[in-house]
Amino acid sequence: MALPPQLIAEFDELVTHYPERRAALIMALHRCQDELGGWLAPETLEDLAAYFHLEPVEVYGVASFYPMFQLRPVGKHVVSVCHNISCELRGAREVLAKVCQVTGAPVHGTSPDGKFSVHTVECQGACANAPMLDLDGHYHEDLDAAKVERILGGVS
Ligand code: FES
Repeated sequence: MALPPQLIAEFDELVTHYPERRAALIMALHRCQDELGGWLAPETLEDLAAYFHLEPVEVYGVASFYPMFQLRPVGKHVVSVCHNISCELRGAREVLAKVCQVTGAPVHGTSPDGKFSVHTVECQGACANAPMLDLDGHYHEDLDAAKVERILGGVS
């Protein structure tokens, strides 16, 4: 197993909080993504499968279901723009176009300088304040192009 010893020690403690070992998988996926370069490499998923006594396809199934898990290398910052109905009706297309313009990243791609990756995501439960985006796990709501420029322009 190639998981770092400190993560294994963390998971050994984590699993004691759950009735079944596998119930800690999502937390472990988050920790691996945080600690191992911002994305989940195939070897990491295989290592987690071994640790949780699961088949690799089961771990892949969980990781691929949730948009917060990255299965390919990403930029330093990840911008996820909701494109579902409430956001769409309130300007998500303009928001996405502005995000791509400001970051230099294409949709589902990474900017040439490696600073930003941009994705579209399904409803994030913030419809009352549509349109919205998620920047590195933090929601920004009631967006327009000027607000997008202010938010992303301040990211270092
Ligand atoms: S449709 Fe965008 S947050 Fe719900």
